[in-house]
Amino acid sequence: QRLVRLLHEMPKAELHIHIEGSLEPELMFELAAKNGVALPYPDVEALRAAYAFHDLQSFLDIYYAGASVLLTADDFEAMTFAYFERAAADRVMHAEIFFDPQTHTARGVPLDTVFEGLTRACARAERSFGITSGLILCFLRHLSEEEAFSTLEQALPWRHQLLGVGLDSGERGNPPEKFARVFAKARALGLHLVAHAGEEGPAEYVRSALDVLHAERIDHGVRSIDDPELVQRLAREGIALTVCPLSNLKLRVFDRLSEHNLAVLLRQGVKVTVNSDDPAYFGGYITQNFVETFEALPQLGVDDAYMLARNSFEASFVSPERRRQMI
Ligand code: HPA
Ligand code: ZN
Repeated sequence: QRLVRLLHEMPKAELHIHIEGSLEPELMFELAAKNGVALPYPDVEALRAAYAFHDLQSFLDIYYAGASVLLTADDFEAMTFAYFERAAADRVMHAEIFFDPQTHTARGVPLDTVFEGLTRACARAERSFGITSGLILCFLRHLSEEEAFSTLEQALPWRHQLLGVGLDSGERGNPPEKFARVFAKARALGLHLVAHAGEEGPAEYVRSALDVLHAERIDHGVRSIDDPELVQRLAREGIALTVCPLSNLKLRVFDRLSEHNLAVLLRQGVKVTVNSDDPAYFGGYITQNFVETFEALPQLGVDDAYMLARNSFEASFVSPERRRQMI
């Protein structure tokens, strides 16, 4: 009906998308065949059937295995451009894209190959669809800070193609403080800073992402709800949360979408945004996340749709000029 059409057609920015999480099973099998990489599933159907997760780690195991088919710059470009085609259909005007270099360098894929493929797709998306974008290099938090430093070092020749750095992978037991020094280095380089926090981990990790890492946005952040004073602070300081409802459902952060706290956080004045996280694995791109969330949370209406879209532009790292063009 009218609301669904609005959710589909309204211009939006996507601020939480792991590009490796946009690799659809069909392309994964195509690249596996081309590159001679064996997948532990006989076909697309069997692979999709394996997408039944019970927590973050059970997803990450399959997600890192899926990325093993990516070998050449063309592979990275094909995956990324396929995301942009979906994003264009969802009226995404601007995307800030996470990538996990360590997943690839650990397999012997040079960082240059990753950057080359991603940047080619970003340039092509701007020409083809007018979508602007930026790349956010994520450190894998289950690895050491020393390895994160080495990754940042290797990325320096591509500094001008980098919007910022982030922090992802298994959250529990890997608090933000573990990466204090490497984030300080990225900050000194003038990079934007974001971090996953409060997805499976506690509200305390959201606090340390802000206070120790100086993160400008929090990815997920839904566990902030356990700390009312923190929620007030997020609202007061205008710190955005990049919330991913279908991801939270599939990884059992919430048992049902109707139990999601997105509307509660929004009503408390937090700058909430809606995003897709790993759409090939979680059953929907950004518009699907909007539509299912609005269906599950009847207190959300037209004004909230506009507010969530406006939040996505305000929380992005685009220039004020580009922002005026998009809104
Ligand atoms: N959380 C942590 N790491 C990730 C995620 C996520 O939702 N998606 C891809 N890597
Ligand atoms: Zn994520």
